[in-house]
Amino acid sequence: MALQAPVGTSDLLPEESLFWDKFKKTAFEVFGRYGYLPIETPLIERTDLFVRGIGEATDVVSKEMYTAISGENLKTLIGGGHIKSSSRLSLRPEGTAGVVRAAVQHDLVPQGAAPAKLVYAGPMFRAERPQQGRKRQFNQVGIECLGAEAPSVDAEGIIMLMRFFETIGIPYQSMHLLINSMGCEHCRPVFREAVHDFLAAHVDELCDDCKHRMETNPLRAFDCKNEHCLALMASAPRITDYLCEECKEHYETVKSYLNAADITYIEDTTLVRGLDYYTRTVFEVQVPEGTGAQTAIGGGGRYDKLVEEVGGRPTPGFGFALGYERCVLALQAAGLEFLKPQRCEIFIACVDDSTRAAAFKMVQGLRDVGLKAELDHQGRSLKSQFKLADKLGARLVATLGPEEVESGIITVRNMVNHRERKVDWAKMKALLLHFGGKPFEGTVATAAEIFGTFDEE
Ligand code: HAM
Repeated sequence: MALQAPVGTSDLLPEESLFWDKFKKTAFEVFGRYGYLPIETPLIERTDLFVRGIGEATDVVSKEMYTAISGENLKTLIGGGHIKSSSRLSLRPEGTAGVVRAAVQHDLVPQGAAPAKLVYAGPMFRAERPQQGRKRQFNQVGIECLGAEAPSVDAEGIIMLMRFFETIGIPYQSMHLLINSMGCEHCRPVFREAVHDFLAAHVDELCDDCKHRMETNPLRAFDCKNEHCLALMASAPRITDYLCEECKEHYETVKSYLNAADITYIEDTTLVRGLDYYTRTVFEVQVPEGTGAQTAIGGGGRYDKLVEEVGGRPTPGFGFALGYERCVLALQAAGLEFLKPQRCEIFIACVDDSTRAAAFKMVQGLRDVGLKAELDHQGRSLKSQFKLADKLGARLVATLGPEEVESGIITVRNMVNHRERKVDWAKMKALLLHFGGKPFEGTVATAAEIFGTFDEE
């Protein structure tokens, strides 16, 4: 049997790959209006970055991280040797830890400077049980804002994410925005203790996972999917009853900004998120229809201690990430179909082999000025070259026979309105020279500029 892509991964074939490009471009454009600049960090980082940043007791770190071992290190391990912690690398399960590491390493938030606003897009890796909307390699677009603790940053981020979702076509009414506050290093430990005590009092009713969570990370019990645990957690202590005055005020101000922007949200006191770095605001956007069991299309929150955790000076942070694959499911539920890409604008057909070299040169000249030009590479007859041109979506076809090459006058046919016009190749060459073919500057000429609009005939 032919080899398949690994379970939980998928190929983005050309139509979808083009959509992913457009998706990223739209995100960078929308977030750019809020001052976010792009950053790219490595797909692999030191394992201890994730252990320290995301938290050793989280599922993401304890169960789902792919650790990369070089051949040499593998030999050392098999031989019973030890590998240095600096050589232990993992594929990134999320983007925040890497961006924060880069911000500290390159001092992107010098003291007193404006906040660093960074946006990124790319693949993340988690060894989860694959299902619809849950992949082992998936794509995220995320943002991180470092250096400001005002609640306006949280509200601005949430509003910006909702604007992006609407811009790409996810209907506003189909989204549920859930928000909560996780408290800070002063009030959260008290809440954590209360949840621990609650779990301890009901230990016989807990699933095995929650019995373990009770000791390692009791707040994770709020995320348990087990029916009994879910029912039990409905009567567990609520963070809102434990928030300190500062956290309460922060949360209230975030909500007041959201209210002023007419953003509808649901306060969900059981929302705890799966990563340990959050403080204060947390939120998630869910689309219950059409996404299957995995309804969260994006989420994030504030993390005021993470930069210190990674070795930087105290710097507050806020961010979110959205899952591209889940957004596609939500978009498909709303009627999205990927567009068929146009591969060719002008096709140069050869009457016989004697004109192939001239056609080859012409096609190159057209490509150099930014047109999608194509010719046959498989020795097709003239008739089947026209069929191929049609298949490739070419609007124009030029036919080159010995006569055309000799006279330099070429007939170009518009495949849409079937009009034809004669084009003087010498003049066309002058036009091509005029446009000059400047690579990296995008399209410098349009087909209409070179061949006319075909309106006048
Ligand atoms: P997260 O909630 O783990 O947060 O992931 C963000 C989004 O990525 C999810 O809402 C979901 O759409 C998508 N996602 C997560 N896991 C998978 C998966 N296995 N398959 C497909 N999609 C998935 C973070 O990653 C944080 N770094 C967000 C953040 C940034 N918080 C602060 N800054």
